Amino acid sequence: MAEDASAEALATRRRFLKWATAVSSLAAAALAGVPVVRAFVSPAFRKPVKMRWIKLGEADLFDLGTPTKVDFAETIEDAWVEEQALRSVWVYSDDGEAFTVYNGRCTHLGCAYRFDKAPDLQYHSQADVFHCPCHHGVFNIKTGAVLAGPPPRPLDTLDTKIEDGMLYAAYEDFRVGIPSKVAT
Ligand code: FES
Repeated sequence: MAEDASAEALATRRRFLKWATAVSSLAAAALAGVPVVRAFVSPAFRKPVKMRWIKLGEADLFDLGTPTKVDFAETIEDAWVEEQALRSVWVYSDDGEAFTVYNGRCTHLGCAYRFDKAPDLQYHSQADVFHCPCHHGVFNIKTGAVLAGPPPRPLDTLDTKIEDGMLYAAYEDFRVGIPSKVAT
């Protein structure tokens, strides 16, 4: 009888030790995996800091009827690193009062586009358009509408405001290659 009790106690202790080992192994594996997972995931959570409203310049000084490109540096941070990224927007106004500001990335695959005052006959026959040289997307400068090529949606417009005569835009990036405007 005493031998049975002792064998049962031994079996119970073994079961407990197995369970405790399994739990601590799982915990160790989970902890070891955190930095790895974080390294893969963190780029998705990179976010711009500061300068959400970008000062673009004196509203009175922008050309009327002709788009103006404005470049600026934006601070990007992830868990460990802060870096500067070069961004661009295009500003358009007919009257100096209402402004349209476009994100400088083409909505197809994100290339930088340019303003073509004259047709670029090798690629398109229209004057006064935005032209993306990557796959020859062509956009209307007043509305951002797609006139030719593969871009799946118009250019992305940004919120704007004028304060003390200065034009600002709320810079934001949007997912490229899809028909709807979705923030990244
Ligand atoms: Fe602009 Fe393809 S990235 S047309």
